[in-house]
Amino acid sequence: MSDPNRLNAALSLRFGDAAPVDPSTPGLDALTRIAEHRSHRKFADRPVDPALLRAISAVALSAPSKSDLQQRDIVIVEDPELRKKIDALMPGMDWLPAAPALLVVCGNNRRQRQWHQWRGKPFPNDHLDQFFNAATDAAIVLGWLVQAASAVGLGCCPLSVIRNRAREASDLLGLPDLVFPYAGLAIGWPAGPGYISPRLPLATTVHVDRFRDDDVRAQIDGYDRRRAAIHSSGKQRLVETYGKADFYGWSEDKARQYAVPERADFGAFIRRKGFDLR
Ligand SMILES: Cc1cc2nc3c(=O)[nH]c(=O)nc-3n(C[C@H](O)[C@H](O)[C@H](O)COP(=O)(O)O)c2cc1C
Repeated sequence: MSDPNRLNAALSLRFGDAAPVDPSTPGLDALTRIAEHRSHRKFADRPVDPALLRAISAVALSAPSKSDLQQRDIVIVEDPELRKKIDALMPGMDWLPAAPALLVVCGNNRRQRQWHQWRGKPFPNDHLDQFFNAATDAAIVLGWLVQAASAVGLGCCPLSVIRNRAREASDLLGLPDLVFPYAGLAIGWPAGPGYISPRLPLATTVHVDRFRDDDVRAQIDGYDRRRAAIHSSGKQRLVETYGKADFYGWSEDKARQYAVPERADFGAFIRRKGFDLR
């Protein structure tokens, strides 16, 4: 692969304003694979070897972990009947039942509390940070799973929508107190090449020395236009409420998406799981 033009093409399409990478930079192949990331939601009708799923899980669990506490687990959903029930919790993801494999990445603060009991030590740290640390560890493993899957040619798509029905997912997977579903990950052999989804420009998201966002509105307007010229933002949401926009860019789509309540019960679910979110 080692083609700096390929890496530069991916970064330029992704950001619009990425400076070319020096062709003598080591690891160009690995950088190119990461830079060409895309989520896949359409898969070939070909199973994924369970041994390969275990292997990519092991690779992903090699990720760094806050204080080496290892507060994340992966549930590999193998039982077809269970899989149907979990898929049914995410009815908006109509492509999901055709995905050959499903993992669920969980945050897990349970083990830490257990060894405090076993070792007879107090736990004067029951506050928001415990949930945050477990969620962060889970997020890192999710990202590494995506990379591990793509390294072997698998395609995948994370599914935070599983948290819309967090309690039911938790019950189906037998998750005890202090263990919560962070995201699903649908995996399979990609049915097509997919596409690179443009991101906000580096001028918006990479800061030097001091955070700045004085130009952010113009930057997002520019991103909306650049992105729309590459891919449409899809079907307009909430047309009955907000009308049909002449120009329907990313920021309009995201504003409409979050103009309706979503997962308002998630905090209560996490508290019921035993987390004190103070
Ligand atoms: C934590 C997380 C949760 C996500 N949840 C969903 C989801 O529930 N459904 C879905 O279709 N895509 C989901 N995605 C995929 C994003 O929509 C996708 O990453 C984003 O649109 C950018 O596209 P790309 O990954 O192809 O670059 C999720 C991604 C992440 C990182």
